[in-house]
Formats: sequence, C-alpha cells, structure tokens
Amino acid sequence: MDKTLGVVTCASSLCHGSIAPWNGSLVSQNEYVVWSRLDKHARAYKLLLNEQSKRIAAKLGLAAPAHESKVCLDCHAHNPLQSKTEHHISDGVACEACHGGAERWIGTHTEAGNSHAKNLANGMYPSDQPLARAQLCLSCHFGDTEKYVTHRMMAAGHPRLSFELNTFTSLQPAHFKVDTDYVQRKGTVDGVKIWSVGQAVAVATQLSILMDPKRGRDGAFPELTLFDCHACHHPMADTRWTPRTTLGSNQGPGLVRLNDSSILMLYLILRQTEPASAENFKLAVSQLNQAIAGRGDMAASAATLKIQAQAAAQKLSQSGMTDAQLAGVALLLVDDGLNGSYSDYAGAEQATMALGSVVSLLNQQGKLKSAAEMNRGLASLRASLVNDEKFKPSEFQLRLRAIRPQLVSGITKQNAPKEQGRP
Ligand code: HEC
Ligand code: HEC
Ligand code: HEC
Ligand code: HEC
Repeated sequence: MDKTLGVVTCASSLCHGSIAPWNGSLVSQNEYVVWSRLDKHARAYKLLLNEQSKRIAAKLGLAAPAHESKVCLDCHAHNPLQSKTEHHISDGVACEACHGGAERWIGTHTEAGNSHAKNLANGMYPSDQPLARAQLCLSCHFGDTEKYVTHRMMAAGHPRLSFELNTFTSLQPAHFKVDTDYVQRKGTVDGVKIWSVGQAVAVATQLSILMDPKRGRDGAFPELTLFDCHACHHPMADTRWTPRTTLGSNQGPGLVRLNDSSILMLYLILRQTEPASAENFKLAVSQLNQAIAGRGDMAASAATLKIQAQAAAQKLSQSGMTDAQLAGVALLLVDDGLNGSYSDYAGAEQATMALGSVVSLLNQQGKLKSAAEMNRGLASLRASLVNDEKFKPSEFQLRLRAIRPQLVSGITKQNAPKEQGRP
C-alpha cells in the first residue's frame, strides 16, 4: 500500500493550487482551488463536528465522538493505513482518497516524457476508467463490506444515500476538462458508458453486502437499507401495493421489497445491449425475489445475480453503445415508467438521473430538437422527486408522458429504434 503524503503536497500554486486554470498546461492546475472551494468532499470531515453528527453519534451510543470514530471517518475523510505526518485527517476526502497514495508517483508524474500508464504503474488510481471509478465512488456512496451506512445510522439521523456515477461526476464538480489532450492521454469519455457501468457495479455491490454474513444481517433481520425504504415506511391505511410489471410481480403483497432501482436500470441496459443476457438476468432477479419471500436459497440466487452483474460491468466498460442502442435506452427509460416500473421512489429517482445522462449525450450528438424543452421536461421530473415521502407515481408518469414526444422526434431523425409498446 503506497503511503499518503497529504493534500499540502498537491496544493502549491505551481502545482494544483493555481487560482485560475493554466493555459499552456495539460491539466488546469487549479484542481486544489476547485476542490477546496466548491467540492463537498473538502468539508466532509467538518460535517462530523456539527450538531447533526453529534446527535447521530449520541443516538448510536458511539464510544467516541463522530470525528474520532472509525465508522464515520472511513467515509468522511481519507483514513489510510499508512500516511506521512503532513497528512491530516481533517482535510476530509482529499486528493489521494481518489487518486491513490502518492508516495511512488509524486516524483515522476510531472517529468517530461511521463505517461498516464506510468503513473498507474506507480500506484496512481485509474479514476479515469469507468469500472475503477464506479468501485471507488460506490465504496463511500453505497458502501462496501468494510464501511457502510447502516439502517441504525439512518434511524439515528444519517441521510439516505443516493448515487449515479455520471451525474455525480459532474456534480462534484469536475476539476478536469475533457479536451483534446485529455482524450489523447486517457481515451474518450462516454457518459452513458459511465452510467451503465455504475449501475452494474451498484447491483454487484448490493449483492455482496446482502451475502456478507456480518454486513448483510443485523440481529434477527437482514440489513434493512438493502430493501426499499418505502416498503416499510408508509402508513398502513395506504394500501398501495400493485404488481410490478417490468421484473415480474411474483412476490405478492406484504413482503419487504429489495431496493431494486439499480437492478431495474441494469435490466433495461441489458435489454438493449445483450437481449439474451437480459433474459437470464430477469430469471435470476425473480429467483432472488422468490428466495427473499422464503421460496428458495437466498445465498445461491444472490451469488448467481452477482456474477451476472459483474460480467455486465466488465462488458459494458469495454464496449460503448451503438446509436440505435442509445436511442433504445432513452425510449425504454420513458416507456418502462409509463408501464408502471417506477412505482417506487428509488426507481423513479434512478430513471431521472439516467435520463439526464442519456439526454446530455444525445444533445452533444446534436440529436435533440430542442435541448431547452428537454431540460424543462427533466426539471419537471426532478421537481416531483423533491420529497420522497410525498412522491406520487401517477404524477411522475404524467410528467414522463409529457417528455416522450420530444425524445421520439429527436432520436427518430437519425435512427429509429423499434417502437416499444406504448401504453
Ligand atoms: C459508507 C460511507 C459513509 C459512512 C460510514 C458514513 N457516512 Fe455520512 N455521508 C456519506 C455520504 C456519501 C454522504 C452524502 C450523501 C449525499 O449527499 O449524497 C453523507 C452525509 C452525511 C451527513 C449529511 C451531510 C449534509 O450535507 O447534510 C452527515 C451529518 C453525516 N453523513 C454524518 C455521518 C456520521 C456521524 C457517520 C458515522 C456514524 C457517518 N456519516 C458515516 C457517507 C458515509
Ligand atoms: C472524490 C474523488 C476525487 C478527489 C477527492 C479528487 N479527485 Fe482529481 N479526479 C477525480 C476524477 C474522477 C477525475 C477524472 C478522471 C481522471 O482523469 O482520472 C479526476 C481528475 C484529476 C486530474 C486529471 C486532469 C486531466 O486533465 O488529466 C487531476 C490533475 C486531478 N484530478 C487532481 C486532483 C487534486 C490535486 C485533488 C485534490 C486537491 C483531487 N484531484 C481530488 C476524482 C477526484
Ligand atoms: C472516501 C469516501 C468518498 C469517496 C471515495 C467519494 N466520495 Fe463523494 N462524498 C463523500 C462524502 C462523505 C460526501 C458528503 C460530503 C458533504 O455532504 O459535505 C460526498 C459528497 C459527494 C457529492 C455531493 C453530493 C451532494 O449531495 O451535494 C458528490 C457529487 C460526490 N460526493 C461525488 C463523488 C464521486 C463522483 C466520487 C468518485 C469519483 C466520489 N464522490 C467518491 C465521500 C466519498
Ligand atoms: C423492513 C422494513 C424497513 C425498511 C426496508 C426500512 N426501514 Fe427504516 N425503520 C424500520 C423500523 C422497524 C424502524 C424502527 C421504528 C421504531 O423504532 O419505531 C425504522 C426506523 C427508521 C427511522 C427512524 C424513524 C424514527 O421514528 O426515529 C428512519 C429515519 C428510517 N427508518 C429510515 C429508513 C431508510 C432511509 C430506509 C431505506 C434506505 C429504511 N428506513 C428502510 C423499518 C424499515
């Protein structure tokens, strides 16, 4: 494991701490300034000192305050096993949390004739590669078998986590610019690939945690955050159960549903990119749902689904989508919703972030009739997601229906995918 040197090592004004981007340089060199002023990762540690964190720590009965507790520091700071004295945990999620301990690459990464491949060989993390980036970000934004926001933490006041790799890469905000030299050094960047790999890795991660005997269970129950929050958290008078259309309704009413928002997305992606795998995937999801309902072996069906998700992540990270597949994905995102797939908040939320990523790529390719009109449509979808407890599936559907003609007229110009059954 390479040692972490600390953010001061990166922050000099001649290195990454320039106030304005440099013109003649390959990278902007103002990354530190962007990070420290605009990026929430820079204040992730400081959050642990606020009232909300104090309340969480007290309700959980932690032995130490939040900012001294490993369960919080593992995500809210860079908490490496080995570091130099210049590294301060109070810097939050700093450069080397994502780019890897700089012990071996710090000296060489600025030498003339150096290459990205050499940096990686010296221990720099491949954050440019979709698969590696998905694993990196999801380790904190979803959790893994080492660090996790448990249902107990959420009940003590920790916010629910929500994540989509491509959307969050631009929200961070990005401190890198995909220009000609970036593409020369690191290859092209495809937002829809980043989205789809992110979904596949999220499914595999969810299943790893479900299968982990320590992490996946809490006393008599499974870890509840793996399930759909709104399966439990709604008033009893509100008998809203309806059969799920896209991935089958085999579970029946009264059972806790898995949070299947990323599963829904991956199923949609597979239907466009690998129809044969999609059928296997659907079968495996159905078997897992049956097992959760007490009809089958949960460990075995989770393992099968996890292998499929990992294989999909590999494949999707190697090949991009054709124009026709992309157009198909865009339409399916809407049509699945019109067919009742996003009756849960978490599904509607993932579909909206996905549409954002897909629409932005279609727009870059000049395939939207009116980007402004499409953005208004997306804004109206986001508006119906502001409060998860007041989410109305029927209203979300109406808003989806309103953007469909826009999408269809945009993408049929160049490559009409098969019209999907429109309700
Ligand atoms: C698995 C990683 C992980 C762990 C463990 C974790 N957090 Fe978080 N926490 C996050 C992420 C990611 C967010 C940001 C959520 C978002 O905005 O999408 C967050 C958000 C928060 C927020 C709200 C921030 C805001 O802007 O409103 C507080 C407060 C917080 N965490 C405190 C804690 C405390 C206290 C602990 C330890 C008991 C803890 N967290 C453990 C990942 C984690
Ligand atoms: C939360 C994760 C994260 C943190 C923290 C972070 N970065 Fe990055 N950084 C990325 C990602 C993702 C990219 C884009 C993919 C890539 O090129 O590796 C990137 C790209 C870069 C690039 C490459 C730009 C190019 O044109 O090739 C530089 C330089 C950089 N970061 C410097 C920094 C510095 C300096 C810090 C700390 C002040 C920092 N980063 C903190 C995630 C992070
Ligand atoms: C070491 C853990 C860690 C890693 C790795 C990490 N994050 Fe975060 N991220 C956090 C925490 C903790 C917060 C909450 C900070 C806050 O709210 O102030 C956060 C906040 C964010 C936010 C702000 C969310 C909001 O609600 O405004 C974005 C966007 C984000 N992260 C994107 C990413 C991306 C993209 C990656 C991968 C390149 C990444 N993060 C990797 C821990 C991490
Ligand atoms: C299997 C059912 C189930 C699922 C799924 C579930 N919860 Fe809970 N939740 C509970 C129960 C039971 C309690 C404890 C209620 C009590 O103490 O009265 C609880 C308590 C809470 C509380 C504290 C409420 C209070 O009154 O103090 C919050 C917040 C919470 N859950 C959030 C979530 C979130 C966010 C999710 C999804 C990520 C989720 N829950 C998923 C059953 C569930």
